[in-house]
Amino acid sequence: MTSVNTAIKLSSRAEAEGIQPGTRSCSPDLAREPWTFDAAVGYGPGASMGDSAPAATPRQPVLPEEYRTASEAELDRRIRAAQETLGDRLVILGHFYQRDEVVQYADFVGDSFQLARAATERAEAEAIVFCGVHFMAETADMLSRPDQAVILPNLAAGCSMADMADIDSVTDCWEQLEELFGTEPDEHGRVPVIPVTYMNSSAALKGFCGDNGGIVCTSSNAAAVLDWAFERGQRVLFFPDQHLGRNTAKAMGIPVEQMPMWNPNKDLGGNTELSLQDSRVILWHGFCSVHKRFSVAQIEKARADFPGVRVIVHPECPMPVVDAADESGSTDYIRKAIAAAAPGGTFAVGTEINMVNRLAAEHPEHTIFCLDPVVCPCSTMYRIHPGYLAWVLEALVRGEVVNRITVDGAVAGPARIALNRMLAVRP
Ligand code: 13P
Ligand code: SF4
Repeated sequence: MTSVNTAIKLSSRAEAEGIQPGTRSCSPDLAREPWTFDAAVGYGPGASMGDSAPAATPRQPVLPEEYRTASEAELDRRIRAAQETLGDRLVILGHFYQRDEVVQYADFVGDSFQLARAATERAEAEAIVFCGVHFMAETADMLSRPDQAVILPNLAAGCSMADMADIDSVTDCWEQLEELFGTEPDEHGRVPVIPVTYMNSSAALKGFCGDNGGIVCTSSNAAAVLDWAFERGQRVLFFPDQHLGRNTAKAMGIPVEQMPMWNPNKDLGGNTELSLQDSRVILWHGFCSVHKRFSVAQIEKARADFPGVRVIVHPECPMPVVDAADESGSTDYIRKAIAAAAPGGTFAVGTEINMVNRLAAEHPEHTIFCLDPVVCPCSTMYRIHPGYLAWVLEALVRGEVVNRITVDGAVAGPARIALNRMLAVRP
């Protein structure tokens, strides 16, 4: 099967030549290489292209021309040569959503939780090259040894959802909640609010949770983390992903009416005091533009076209989609569910296209397709390309560290507390 990258390029060329393309993509700009967008503000083409990027979004410096013009074969030769030279001094981590052209070089591929753990387990490596997005590299920096350098090949590989909650707005929200609820525990020793941040958030927000009795979660442990939080608090402030928060809490039996949404642009988040008093989970107004694309209509069509199809979606999808699906779970859950199924299954998957197509290639015994018929990868995962990987690796061979991600000690200390609380929670 051709990779997503190749498919998008072939289809754009076909469109330019007036030939009916076999694939529809969300943006013709996806046929251009990611460095075309390094000088521009914003996330680049793909699912997040309509989201507003904060002014302080990191920019990637100009990639030297030799890496922009090198052929695929040339980049492959250079990346492999650098890996060979660096040996155990280097580890390359890759998220499931990375393009195949990058995943082929990773020493370890996983979901955000597994990658956070992997960063703690490579003691021999001097450099951890993280083919994923910014918050993942920050987490790896905080969990690895101080002398290990964590490198993000393209600094513009952020996460539009993570950018939807910033430390100032969350602190402002927290102050309003403290004013409303006070800080005294109830008769069971539970404080009024426990902050829970999704892994997809800045180190500053993880630090905020560490400082305020809170914790981090990922999509693979969100229910266990909410249990942890409810043992210690009367309610939870969950940021930035409203959908993961709502889907997880709903599955635990919390009524949707007790999950008001907090809009940071409105007083009391746009809520009344009464609705906040009655709340169990206060949901931040954030979402993932990849997973927002999935719909109940797509599920209905998959069921009509493929009777008996098993629909599995990521919990970042909106609640009606998760409710209509057969099951939901993290990227690793999806991977394991498909691997464990008896041959001959048909799966409609609601998550990022690079991962879905890779699963389809790895499991020819099943029919696997993405619920969304339009090819629309995660804009920020897409910013990593073999050209950037070759650039950072060859710099390492010369003894230079470029694109290092470091979290300031004042933030990393409390953030590590919140991360370690998560790592200690047993699902
Ligand atoms: P996982 O935690 O399932 O890897 O998901 C990370 C992510 O960014 C999903 O959009
Ligand atoms: Fe962020 Fe969504 Fe991309 Fe995951 S898929 S990195 S949540 S924008």
